[in-house]
Amino acid sequence: MSGDLVLLEKDPPLATITINRPKALNALNSQVLKTLEGVLDQVGEDEEIRVVIITGSGEKAFVAGADIAEMSEMTPLEGANFSRLGQLIFKKVEELKKPVIAAVNGFALGGGSELALACDFIYASENAKFGLPEVTLGIMPGFGGTQRLPRLIGKGRAKELIFTGKMITANEAYEIGMINKVVPQDQLMDAVKEVALQIAKNGPIAVSIAKGLVNVGYDIPLDDGCLMESKSFGVCASTEDKREGMKAFLEKRKPVFKGK
Ligand code: CAA
Repeated sequence: MSGDLVLLEKDPPLATITINRPKALNALNSQVLKTLEGVLDQVGEDEEIRVVIITGSGEKAFVAGADIAEMSEMTPLEGANFSRLGQLIFKKVEELKKPVIAAVNGFALGGGSELALACDFIYASENAKFGLPEVTLGIMPGFGGTQRLPRLIGKGRAKELIFTGKMITANEAYEIGMINKVVPQDQLMDAVKEVALQIAKNGPIAVSIAKGLVNVGYDIPLDDGCLMESKSFGVCASTEDKREGMKAFLEKRKPVFKGK
């Protein structure tokens, strides 16, 4: 069943999406991508869910890339369409109105690294490996890797990874600023859930707007970004959450945010 290719576990305020094709190291074929799209729509609309976690099934791989068997048969047009499909679905991850954290539990290669890069930030287990090995297959990254990786770690480091196709360890990925934290594998989900719950306690509208501003602001002039920030600051000031947050501070109690 195609639904089994991507699992959704809801434990409000968190939801965990698991790419579930362990026999192929969770490689992304068209069916997995389309299933992922539906699951993203579902969590995006679910008001109980405030933070989303994306991980891979099993202990070996997060996602070992786009499906090489499927790509091997593609015509140029099909290749372009497949690349665009992946890009648009990863854009959906990036633009989801709630934070998305990648819990990278093993190989994150090609489309796997690109999926993690579309998330807001990445935690990884010690055994995780990152890389964009596409050129070793005679192709190039096609799910946003040539664009998101240099924005995150700088052009020179990104080019080295993309041109060599080499794999790096989780610790190396941490050192170059590609990922935020490395933990032993058996502690990965606890570490991700801990930070996710810390985020989920905060005003969801404020977090959501801040996410959008960081993303948009990265690609526009500073002054324009700051102007957008001040307008958004004003929007936050109109929310019930703002009144609750400040009232709770003054009353020396914890706020209860409703996302209103
Ligand atoms: N696509 C399809 N199947 C894959 C796959 C992929 N990306 N990665 C692994 N598999 C399959 C293998 O074919 C194998 O299947 P069988 O058991 O049926 O033979 C199974 O998963 C287990 O893999 P291995 O036997 O190769 O496991 P290993 O431990 O020896 O090696 C690995 C692990 C180093 C991750 C190796 O599987 C590998 O190099 N995989 C490919 C990685 C890669 O090149 N990814 C980039 C793909 S291109 C891309 O992603 C394009 C894009 O940007 C859009």
